[in-house]
Formats: sequence, C-alpha cells, structure tokens
Amino acid sequence: MATRYDIPSHIASVTDYEPIARERLPADAFAYISGAAADELTLARNRTAFDALALKSRVLADLRGGGTALSLFGCDFVHPILVAPSGRHRLCDPHGELATLVGAGGAKAGMVVSTEADIRLEELAAAATAPLWFQLYVQHDRAYTLDVVRRAEQAGYRALVVTVDAPVHGLRNRELRAGYRGPKLSEFANLAGLHTTHFAHADLGESLMFGGYLEAVPVWEDIARLRRATKLPLILKGIMAPEDAQRALELGVDGIIVSNHGGRVLDSQPASIEALPAVVREVAGRVPVLMDGGIRRGTDVLKALALGAAAVLVGRPVLYGLAVAGPAGVAHVLHLLRCELEIAMVLTGCRTLSDIGPQVLWQPG
Ligand code: FNR
Repeated sequence: MATRYDIPSHIASVTDYEPIARERLPADAFAYISGAAADELTLARNRTAFDALALKSRVLADLRGGGTALSLFGCDFVHPILVAPSGRHRLCDPHGELATLVGAGGAKAGMVVSTEADIRLEELAAAATAPLWFQLYVQHDRAYTLDVVRRAEQAGYRALVVTVDAPVHGLRNRELRAGYRGPKLSEFANLAGLHTTHFAHADLGESLMFGGYLEAVPVWEDIARLRRATKLPLILKGIMAPEDAQRALELGVDGIIVSNHGGRVLDSQPASIEALPAVVREVAGRVPVLMDGGIRRGTDVLKALALGAAAVLVGRPVLYGLAVAGPAGVAHVLHLLRCELEIAMVLTGCRTLSDIGPQVLWQPG
C-alpha cells in the first residue's frame, strides 16, 4: 500500500511534481504557492528566458576527479543548489519546515529558513543536519526585528539573508481569485508578540500606499544598521538593478541574490537570469552573487553558473515535492537537479564548478 510519503513511480523530472501537488493541495493553497503577481508575466519569463539560452556540447574532455563542491560564506556545500526561503510549509506537510529540513539534509542541500516559517527558527536550527541561513523580513518594529536577528545568531544560523524586494505585498490576483487568506503577520511562529495589524496576503483594501504604511517600510539605512548590528554574513535578496548592487556593496554586504521573488511582487520585470549578467559585471567578483527564479532543470543551474552565479536557490519545486511526498519529495527534487547538473557538466566539458563559464553557452555564428 502506498504511504503518504511514497514518490509516485512515474516522476522523472522536477516539473512532474507540480500537477500532482495541484491535485493534492486545497485550491487556495495551490494558488498561493504556484501563483505570482498580476498577469504573471515575470513568472512566465523566469522560465522562457532559461529556455532561450542554448548550450554548447563539448566532447572527449578528461573529467576524472571532478565534482560540484563549493564553499560559500564559510559554509561547505557538496553542490550549488539551495532551498529558497518560503513561508507556510504546513500547507504542504503537517510537519512544515521540519519536513523540508529533513529532505534538504537528505540531499545535502543548504536551506534558507523564512521569517514566515510555520516552525520557530530555534526548533529548526536544533533539528538541522546541514548549514542553515535565516531569511529576514525587516518588520515595521525595528527593535523587534533586531531581536529576531539575535535569536537567529544564538540559534546558530550561518548567514542572514535580508529580503529587500517586497516592502509591500505583490498584487497576487491568482490568490485573490482563489480566496486565499494568509495569517496576520504576528501569527507567524517567528513573529509572536509583534504589534502589527498587517496580514500576509494581498488585500486591495490595504493597497493605498501613500498614507501611513510607507512611513515604516525598510530603507537603505536599515541595511547599514543591520551591517553594524551583526557579524553574520549579510546577503541581500531581491536585487535586480546593478545600481542597487553597487549601493549594497558600499554598505558592506557579503553577498547578493539576484531575484524577482519568483515573479510574486512586481510584475513585468525581466527574468532573474536576464538581470544576472549586469549585476555580476557590477559586482566584479567582490562578493558572491547567487540567483533564483525559474530553476527547474540541472541545465538551468548550469546556465545560471555560466552567467556568473555562485549558486542557485529553488522555490516552488521544493514545495511541490513536499506536498507530494514530504521529506522524500524534497530530497528527490533536489537530488534530480543535482544529477541533472552533473550530466550537463559532463556534456559541456566542465570538471568542477569553476570550469563553468560563458563558454558553455551557444553563441550563434
Ligand atoms: C516565496 N519566496 C519568499 N522569499 C523570501 O525571501 N521570503 C519568503 O518568505 C518567501 N515566501 C515564498 C513563498 C512561496 C509560496 C513562494 C513560491 C516563494 C520567494 C522565494 O524565495 C524565491 O525567490 C522564488 O520562489 C524563486 O522562484 P521559483 O524557484 O519558485 O521559480
């Protein structure tokens, strides 16, 4: 008899998980996870831009002794695929992020724990078998925010990922149509006791911005303050503009994640993979640049690394794996991507991650 955590036998690739997750999840939860902002142009473009990049196969290279290991912000990883921060994993599995953590550990993948996780950050850190980074949303209450940072430090998180691209909620029309309602921010396990009236879902009733709301959204000075407040590696997530990357470097950040939040905030942006090269040029090797958005194949990981990413993060596929087969599904999704990356490296003549460069991309003519 199939158990709740069996991996359906016909699954061959990461994208096979999505239709099964759709069948198993309530319609509003699926809309929350799979959806994006407005007309979802950016969501679609995150994929089509990867598909438009072609690879150049190379033959007969001696690849003995190769591998996919890397070191990032003092953490050793056996491959460059991390779990992106996302909230509310209990929608997918009763054990929430604890289940995700087991799956990520099984696949030896790093994981970024969201501020909006359903399990307290301390409990997750205690259960971790691989390095954990903590993703911070700067709250309107800055003293409370600093307290969250202290808790992450004390719990042993190895880096602080500050998400800067979502000062307001994306206009998630698919969620609204499906009747999805998120909790109040203070109902998240990590934000207990926070004084706020804001909800974690798009609400057109709240959508007039230029009143009181903007008085307390994060600004560059908050990054400067965080830089002074913590010795943890500080990584900004949600950078698309080279100008913003430059500003972040001036403030002493240790890393940048090029991301459009999986198309969930501002629609009509280009794909993350389209924004990556200009940010990499601006950063010029001073700090690692990571990226996320649309990674569904090992060849996508290869393409991101070819354009200068040090590593990639994966969002929705991990949640679909979690919804379909709990920790086993998460581990399987990550394992598939890792295997596919290795195959793609072999077929493009790359022995290690540092061999991956623009030469693996097909240049017409
Ligand atoms: C997210 N994302 C996100 N990002 C973040 O910094 N903090 C968060 O709490 C969340 N929450 C969240 C929930 C859900 C359901 C999704 C799908 C995404 C964005 C996430 O970290 C990542 O940027 C994108 O998911 C990457 O795109 P793909 O891999 O989903 O295409």
